[in-house]
Amino acid sequence: MDLPTDLRLALTNELANIPQKSIAATVERLSNRYRGGHPPAEGTFLHTSADVIAYAAYRLPATFAAIYAALNETRKRRPDWQPRTMLDAGAGPGTALWAASQVWPDLAQIALLERDDDMIAFGKQLATHARSAAVREATWQKVDLLGQWESEPKDLVTTAYVLNELPASQRETLINKLWSITTDTLVIIEPGTPIGFSHILQARQQLIAAGANIVAPCPHNLPCPMANNDWCHFAQRIARSQLQRQAKQATLSYEDEKFSYIAASRTKGLPIRARVLRHPQIRPGHIHLELCTPEGLQNSIVTRKDKAAFREARAIEWGNALSPDH
Ligand SMILES: C[S@@+](CC[C@H](N)C(=O)[O-])C[C@H]1O[C@@H](n2cnc3c(N)ncnc32)[C@H](O)[C@@H]1O
Repeated sequence: MDLPTDLRLALTNELANIPQKSIAATVERLSNRYRGGHPPAEGTFLHTSADVIAYAAYRLPATFAAIYAALNETRKRRPDWQPRTMLDAGAGPGTALWAASQVWPDLAQIALLERDDDMIAFGKQLATHARSAAVREATWQKVDLLGQWESEPKDLVTTAYVLNELPASQRETLINKLWSITTDTLVIIEPGTPIGFSHILQARQQLIAAGANIVAPCPHNLPCPMANNDWCHFAQRIARSQLQRQAKQATLSYEDEKFSYIAASRTKGLPIRARVLRHPQIRPGHIHLELCTPEGLQNSIVTRKDKAAFREARAIEWGNALSPDH
């Protein structure tokens, strides 16, 4: 996938006057901090306005791709649902704002909570370039998610790449709070790493105990069958612009963003038979699928003998849901 044109141009515009060399150097420092995993003692990976610029240049396209993919899978299980109001917690430069308004163009009121002034300023400026009125008119609030804050109930609540930055003791409290203001669906996205998945798994258990239906990616609300140090994650390929290639000192024209996610809803989604957990292995006479199903993890082999099923299986991708008639 590519970024929506208006977001791509907005980024190019806002980063145009920053010297490439300084972005690349900050990207290097920032990615080392993120690779280190846990947030530093001061509780944030982002220290300066240069860090915010670097985040926008090197992370925003990839996190946009992951958030878009997670929201789009949510939409497929709730095709008749059209959220009108949304809250995004830990909004950064507004990545989920742009992604959600692509998936649900009728979103009308979007509230963003973020504690970093530079992020808010950058996100607001980026949003001035949006085609969508909901993106341009979103409200930004300076809020520490771990402190006192209030919100009206919202149809859609999201938090992306944030749990990872919070102290373990605070994650459960934040998830409870986000669920309490969700009138329909809460979507949580984290890096597709064992640690990122462990936060998603914890949130999953907590939300099921609170009465939620898991509409994506899981085909059921049963205990997660992932075991043996394996972790449920997906990947979204995103094109890299020239600017990103320079910022990351990378040569490939794309990157694959790995992510784990969960969409917890107060309503049931359309039933699915399975979720595809790996790239399908396409061999000369058969296709090998690794699936999560209500009966547990399954390996499924589709042979060329079953022509119709084989044709269908060739189109299946990692992360797809299989409908009950598949
Ligand atoms: C990795 S960035 C993710 C930004 C955005 N959600 C995305 O996916 O691109 C994490 C964001 O969460 C914000 N954040 C972290 N802890 C926070 C807190 N306690 N209160 C509010 N915002 C917080 C950071 O300032 C940062 O902008």
